[in-house]
Amino acid sequence: MNAPWAMLAELTHACPLRCPYCSNPTELAARSSELDTGEWRRIFGEAAALGVVHAHLSGGEPLLRRDLAEIVAAADRAGVYTQLVTSGVGLSERRTGELVAAGLRSVQLSVQSATARESDRIAGVASFERKERAAAAVVASGLPLGLNVVLHRANLDAVGEIIELGLAWGAERIELANTQFYGWGLLNRSALLPTREQLARAEAVVQKYREKTDVELIWVIPDYFDGVPKPCMGGWGAISITVAPDGRVLPCPAAYDLPLDLPNTRDHSLGWIWEHSPAFNAYRGTGWMREPCASCPRRTLDFGGCRCQAYALTGDASRTDPACGLSPDHHLVTELAAGGTFTYRRPAR
Ligand code: SF4
Ligand code: FES
Repeated sequence: MNAPWAMLAELTHACPLRCPYCSNPTELAARSSELDTGEWRRIFGEAAALGVVHAHLSGGEPLLRRDLAEIVAAADRAGVYTQLVTSGVGLSERRTGELVAAGLRSVQLSVQSATARESDRIAGVASFERKERAAAAVVASGLPLGLNVVLHRANLDAVGEIIELGLAWGAERIELANTQFYGWGLLNRSALLPTREQLARAEAVVQKYREKTDVELIWVIPDYFDGVPKPCMGGWGAISITVAPDGRVLPCPAAYDLPLDLPNTRDHSLGWIWEHSPAFNAYRGTGWMREPCASCPRRTLDFGGCRCQAYALTGDASRTDPACGLSPDHHLVTELAAGGTFTYRRPAR
């Protein structure tokens, strides 16, 4: 067993935006249940001792935590590199300055589309102008800015304009992430599902921009369409650990609904959770696999695909990911009806 090197710290599930593709669970952790500053301080110490070197401070919207600078400082003191994953709402120049002083190393800003009108429509809240100001504040602070755009039926045709926007805002890296269908995203799957033609057009546009710019353009594959499953999380319990706002610890940020007894950092150390908890050992390695994965030469490359997707679509997390063309359940991703309207995310209690 390797040590984890990455941690996703979900500081809160609360968020000012209401994106229909959100991968947070539909049952959001209540604000009253959130870990306090001292608990996050302890967690970063334990994470660093375990081998974690990189943390995404995420949510929900982590800027809603008034103690965010203290949390960043605690991670920095523990020797963990921090990246803020944010909608940008609330990221003023003053707040950015506080976070830089506390040791923040980079910012990943989300945007929903290339124009204010479309971005605000998808986010369910007027937020585009605040994102633009946040991008300017990050660039002025000297921190590296990454732009993250979740792609789907409603914005794939604007991918060229979205890349232009990222270049104009000063992004050093633009992540074009085709929607992964978990949480609210799964609930909205029909409305988000693109056509194969949209995907092919968008990928060609991205390829053209790769020839024109040095800015890193990441294309996260739409696994429903390729017949090839993604090596989800780099393997279960292999490289990454997720801490939920209420202290639950998960091998994957979408594993809330799996039938696992999720350990809590209020009861156990991260070291014990990583090494000994049943949840982290449930799908480690290849011993748990059934056919066709058990004898497949790709099983050590893609780890049988995604456990959360297998569970969400078949009710059994130990089945082959239906995104795989060899899965007996592959029709579950190829015979889907597309269309309909968004169900916007509800706020956390
Ligand atoms: Fe991967 Fe399993 Fe499909 Fe083989 S059968 S490609 S291991 S998901
Ligand atoms: Fe959880 Fe893939 S999203 S294992």
